[in-house]
Amino acid sequence: MASIIKTVDLRKAYRVGPEVVVALDCINLEIAEGQVCCILGTSGSGKSTLLNQLAGLEKPTRGNVYILGKNISKMTEKQLAHFRQKSIGFVFQSYNLLPGMSAIENVAMPLTFRGVSKRKRTAIAKEMLKAVGLESRMKHTPAEMSGGQQQRVGIARAFAARPKVVFADEPTGNLDTKTTREIMELFLNFSRQQKITIVLVTHDRNLANYADRIVTIMDGRVVKDAANQSLFDVEKEEAARKAAWENDQLPPQEPAPGEPPAEEQKAANEGTEPSAVPEVNTAFGEGQENEKQTPAALEEK
Ligand SMILES: Nc1ncnc2c1ncn2[C@@H]1O[C@H](COP(=O)(O)OP(=O)(O)O)[C@@H](O)[C@H]1O
Ligand SMILES: [Mg+2]
Repeated sequence: MASIIKTVDLRKAYRVGPEVVVALDCINLEIAEGQVCCILGTSGSGKSTLLNQLAGLEKPTRGNVYILGKNISKMTEKQLAHFRQKSIGFVFQSYNLLPGMSAIENVAMPLTFRGVSKRKRTAIAKEMLKAVGLESRMKHTPAEMSGGQQQRVGIARAFAARPKVVFADEPTGNLDTKTTREIMELFLNFSRQQKITIVLVTHDRNLANYADRIVTIMDGRVVKDAANQSLFDVEKEEAARKAAWENDQLPPQEPAPGEPPAEEQKAANEGTEPSAVPEVNTAFGEGQENEKQTPAALEEK
């Protein structure tokens, strides 16, 4: 897959009085198109600084950032603003919705910069709000919505203009566990459907498990960079296998080593309730590289 974001020897240092704070150093990252990449690190490790660099919100002290082959570190502020409007979406921890505006107006906002007509903007915004389950809250202002609902608006807004990349800085930091899960599902649904690259910044290991790749940073440097089987995809595959099993579309399961042959198993299963049917688990057999990752197993890592 082609890489959509690339950094070369990226460094960002801040001068604070007589001191120099090195927030990022020697960052060489390449992010593939359509990848959900998580930047994981503790508070103060440099995550937000890195996100700001990747999105062209701040200039590097040294090194370069390329997005879609363009060196954004060399762009003027005007070129950068135009580039961000055209290719980038943002999701923030504190939602950053405009308080005086309705959900529709907030979602339609990025399309204004794209020169889309008001009628079309409104139509797209309504579609997006429907897609995030806010059909009945379209005319509400942020103050008239819960945190989870506001973040749904935030996500609808980020994806409305079909950006190439969506950057999210602790997008569920203010939400409870159940809402976090719902928000991540929405996020990943859009990403998978539209093949949009996601760069997700968090300190939360559980959230990182929704990503395809986890880049861990510490004191402004990458200390670990590893592929991850997205919890979202694991859950989707499991649900699909369960549905196929229930619809009786699967061939008889191969007995795993040490299990009784298929005939015996079939006899044993007869007359049992569906909930007692052993889980179909063909893709993640023991000893295979992709060991099955249940949420509990992931938390242990
Ligand atoms: N504008 C700034 N001026 C000075 N130091 C900064 C600035 N922004 C960030 N830093 C410092 O850079 C380091 C990384 O910060 P940040 O990227 O916000 O971390 P994280 O998002 O991982 O919590 C911290 O030590 C922070 O104090
Ligand atoms: Mg931060």
